[in-house]
Amino acid sequence: MVCKNIACALKKIVMKIGIDNLIVHYGVTNIFKLCHHYLLSVAIVVDNLSFQYGTDPLFDEISFEIKKKSWVGLTGRSGSGKTTLLFLLSTLLKPQKGMIHVFGSEITKMKRKQVNKFRLKNIGFVFQDNNLIPDMTAFENIELPLVLAGIPKSIREKQVIQLMSELEISDCSSRLPHKLSGGQQQRVALARALVNHPQILFADEPTGSLDSISEENLLDILKTLNREGLTIVCATHSPKVLSYCNDEIIIEKLVKDT
Ligand SMILES: Nc1ncnc2c1ncn2[C@@H]1O[C@H](COP(=O)(O)OP(=O)(O)OP(=O)(O)O)[C@@H](O)[C@H]1O
Ligand SMILES: [Mg+2]
Repeated sequence: MVCKNIACALKKIVMKIGIDNLIVHYGVTNIFKLCHHYLLSVAIVVDNLSFQYGTDPLFDEISFEIKKKSWVGLTGRSGSGKTTLLFLLSTLLKPQKGMIHVFGSEITKMKRKQVNKFRLKNIGFVFQDNNLIPDMTAFENIELPLVLAGIPKSIREKQVIQLMSELEISDCSSRLPHKLSGGQQQRVALARALVNHPQILFADEPTGSLDSISEENLLDILKTLNREGLTIVCATHSPKVLSYCNDEIIIEKLVKDT
């Protein structure tokens, strides 16, 4: 795994500065330092990724990377593949070809059990339509990733109560999702994505159904989390959301450039 990561880092560095420059200007030790520095700075590396649902390829050998602690806006027309790409990056879908590294782990090579463990520990996901479980209360929805991770009840309760308080949804605790407003549902979904302290948060149009005040509230929460070091990848159509991001990936450009 380490060798593969170094090889991948080296490939990216060579692509950036050229093999001649690398050999002329850097000794072997410095090349390893360069690779190490590169590996410390990237959250996600995608290399030659191909994916199709049926027979038509949606992504054909696309490559890109996402820096640690960045907040990336993923944009593109409806149907261009934003949700699909988020699913691929977060282990919810497997590509037919190519490699995805998330925080130094090659998720594309992992077996199902390993993937589930990795996802629970490192990844938070806010779905386009929330995906809250309708017959579970807000508290139970948020608690679920901790139950799956086998965290003891007393610790679970403490973590959920604290997070609900931070996101100002404590009074929603015992209500079912359909008894919550759109903004409250979105914050419950965000709490569920954050409760396991992930290294990276994927959010699929998280403010899609919110009014402008709820949208701004949610974006301010994400802004604080990003400043605290959380890497965020957020599919969006909204210029307002994009104004909060510090980087952008445009799907059409990704497909055309590769
Ligand atoms: N489970 C599926 N089976 C087959 N095709 C699918 C499936 N999910 C999505 N697609 C197709 O893949 C393409 C990309 O869909 P995706 O949902 O990723 O787009 P999107 O950019 O998120 O769109 P939107 O902005 O409307 O949310 C679309 O043509 C869609 O019809
Ligand atoms: Mg989508």
